[in-house]
Amino acid sequence: MSDTDAAWAALSKAAGAARDRRIDSLFAAEPDRLARLTLKAAGLEIDLSKQPWSLADLDVMLGLAQAGGVEAARAKLFAGEVVNASEGRPALHMALRAPDGSDFRADGQLVSRDVEATRDAMRAFCDAVRSGAKAGCTGKPFRAIVHIGIGGSDLGPRFLWEALKPLDPQIDLRFVANVDPAELAQALTGLDPAETLIVTVSKTFTTLETLTNAEAARAWLRASLGPASDSHLVAVSAAPDKAQAFGVPADQVFGFWDWVGGRYSIWSSVGLSCAVALGYDVFARLLAGAHAMDEHFRTAPLADNAPVRLALAHVFNRNGLSRPIRAVVPYAQRLRLFANFLQQLEMESNGKRVTADGQPAPHATAASVFGDAGTNGQHAFFQLLHQGTDIIPVDIVAVRQGAEGDPTAQTKLLANAIAQAEALMVGRPPAETTDPQRAFPGNRPSSFLLMERLEPETLGALIALYEHKTFVEGVLWGINSFDQWGVELGKTLATRVLGELEGGPAGAHDPSTQALIARLKG
Ligand code: F6P
Repeated sequence: MSDTDAAWAALSKAAGAARDRRIDSLFAAEPDRLARLTLKAAGLEIDLSKQPWSLADLDVMLGLAQAGGVEAARAKLFAGEVVNASEGRPALHMALRAPDGSDFRADGQLVSRDVEATRDAMRAFCDAVRSGAKAGCTGKPFRAIVHIGIGGSDLGPRFLWEALKPLDPQIDLRFVANVDPAELAQALTGLDPAETLIVTVSKTFTTLETLTNAEAARAWLRASLGPASDSHLVAVSAAPDKAQAFGVPADQVFGFWDWVGGRYSIWSSVGLSCAVALGYDVFARLLAGAHAMDEHFRTAPLADNAPVRLALAHVFNRNGLSRPIRAVVPYAQRLRLFANFLQQLEMESNGKRVTADGQPAPHATAASVFGDAGTNGQHAFFQLLHQGTDIIPVDIVAVRQGAEGDPTAQTKLLANAIAQAEALMVGRPPAETTDPQRAFPGNRPSSFLLMERLEPETLGALIALYEHKTFVEGVLWGINSFDQWGVELGKTLATRVLGELEGGPAGAHDPSTQALIARLKG
């Protein structure tokens, strides 16, 4: 048996014992449990003591990380080696948030100077828009940005803006992702074209939804301002030639590189609209926070490494205890889009059924992720978390000091975060009720992530934590976390169906699809 197989067998054995044990009983059995299972990294405090593992199980999981080659994979990632084999690319998002003077190389080619030049161009553009030096074609300063993009070109920026936007922003930043025309119509309503920048973000600049919306937004500008309004178009793309061909002025096309995956791209010029609306210095602080987590991940031993520990806790649940779903509940309204962001990060990265070399994956891969802000989620899906037939581990994120509003409300929010984690684990002791409807079995795991304040640095660290956690899981599962072939078939079929809905010749389909096309045609 290989070391890796032995490590997976050890996990099965450890998890078998965990099934028959209560999490809360471990605190008495392991006096140093809380201290050993809590760690700090880059401004985040991460308590994994309410997870179902014992301290001995943690050692088993660290053995799995060793045997699974996490250290070597981490070294390859940071060295810019081709870790995305199916697309022949490195995955070097860490280069985007490294300080000036760094020496990141993508497959041997120095990229840090290009990164710095792009950041300088972003800063200059941000400053020019915010100061009014860069104004619209009628001379009015820009007061609104419509950010058009989808997937990785949307979820990160949308999450970031929601998390950090000022209460009364200088720039009204709105997002449009869906090809459903309702979203663009809503975003444009109330805006003055003379004061609006349209920032189209697409790594490939071929995405149907994004190009459809970009064309409609350009038409909206031109309808009121004429062709001169093309100076209101900005693009962010790894295919700058396509953006220019679309009509975006060359000096308003911000590039990035094929070694930046869409869902890892918030740190690149994909963050431009947020950087303009927040001010570049805020964006730079986000990068600094993520870099601090990179340095922690790169240098901390596996045993003390936050992304590794979080990954191991998730793998213990996913593989050891066969738990296919995880909930993410930030007790911070400003982080309410965290689960949406993680859905792409984790499920597009690790929702894979074959290994990197094309063999059937020997272990279950990514869990489904869902969630919403606490306390709202408590009044929606927490019933199932507490009393449903499935055990769904929960990642709770809390912020100690709220930035705005009534501090007593903030205390109530924190009380709920703490209480839910307690209720999930402890339940209601049988002595308290004999009524099965009111019984809470408990023994339901959670992680508790705490930050002092929601600031650009802690947000950057939080996102980078989950990026690296996702990477570590992918390494353990032997899959390529950086490709996404599973989204391609739907795109191809949609193009075919669109042709038919628009009057093209009928194709061969199953009867149900055929009937839907016939019904919706014309
Ligand atoms: O949904 C598939 C996907 O390729 C994502 O990986 C990507 O983030 C998104 O589409 C948008 O792609 P693009 O930035 O090229 O428009």
